[in-house]
Amino acid sequence: MYIVMLGAPGTGKGTVGDLLSKELGIVHISSGEIFRNYIKKHNKLGQEIENYITEGKLVPDELAIQLIEKRLNEPDTKNGAILDGFPRTENQAVVLDGILKAKQEKINIAVDLNLPDEEIIDRIVKRRTCPNTECREIYNIDFKPPKVDGICDKCGTKLIKRIDDNEKTVKQRLETYHEISEGLIKYYKNQDILYTVKLNNKSDLTTKDIVEEIKAYLENK
Ligand code: AP5
Ligand code: MG
Repeated sequence: MYIVMLGAPGTGKGTVGDLLSKELGIVHISSGEIFRNYIKKHNKLGQEIENYITEGKLVPDELAIQLIEKRLNEPDTKNGAILDGFPRTENQAVVLDGILKAKQEKINIAVDLNLPDEEIIDRIVKRRTCPNTECREIYNIDFKPPKVDGICDKCGTKLIKRIDDNEKTVKQRLETYHEISEGLIKYYKNQDILYTVKLNNKSDLTTKDIVEEIKAYLENK
C-alpha cells in the first residue's frame, strides 16, 4: 500500500505519518528527513540542500526524485510506504506514478491535511524535534510538550529547533507551498484518491482520530 501525505508545512504530515506507519506496519518516508540527513554529512550535496531549505525553497525536482527513488528501492518498502512530503510538484507526482507502475503498485490515497496559515506558523515556531536519526520524535511546546523540558521522552536526546523553523523561513515555505499545491491536489482529485482533512488548532480531532479516518477510507475504498 502506498500513501501520499500532502499538506502545507506544519500541518502534521510527520505526526500523522508516524502513527499511520505504526498502525499499518508500513515504512514512513519523509523527504525532508532524507534531506536533513544529507545536510548532516557536511559535504557539497549537503551544503546545496541546506541552502534551499534555509531559504524555504524546494530542492530541485531532479535531485528530490533521485533521492526518493533510491529510498523506494530499499528492502523495507516491500509492503509499501507512507510518503510524507513527496511528491511536492506535479512533475514529481507523474514520475512517482511511473516508479510505482514499474513495481506493479499504485497510490491508494493522497491525504491532504488542511490548516489555516496563521495556525501553521504558531505550530511550527513551537515545534521541537529529536535530532536522533533513530528516533525523530516530534514535539510541540503547547500541543505535545516533552515530560522534561528540552529532552526527548523516548531517547533522552536534547531536542532542537529545525533550521527552517523560524517565522521568516516558515512564511517563505508557505509561499512556496501555495504556488505549487493547487496543481498537485487537482492531480490526485482527478484520480479520485484525494482525501482532505480540515483542521484547526482548536479542533478536537486528535492524531488518532485522523489516522482512524484514513484507515476507514482505505477499508471502504
Ligand atoms: P519537510 O521536512 O517535509 O517539511 P514541511 O513540508 O515544511 O513539513 P513539516 O515537517 O514542517 O511539517 P509536518 O507537516 O510534518 O508537521 P509535523 O507533524 O511536524 O521539508 C523540509 C524542506 O525540504 C522543504 O521546505 C523543501 O525545501 C525540502 N523538500 C522536502 N520534500 C521535498 C520535495 N518533495 N521536493 C523538493 N523539496 C523538498 O507537525 C508540526 C507541529 O504541529 C509539531 O510541533 C506537532 O507536534 C504539531 N502538531 C501535530 N499535530 C497536531 C495537532 N493535531 N494539533 C496541534 N498540534 C499538532
Ligand atoms: Mg515533517
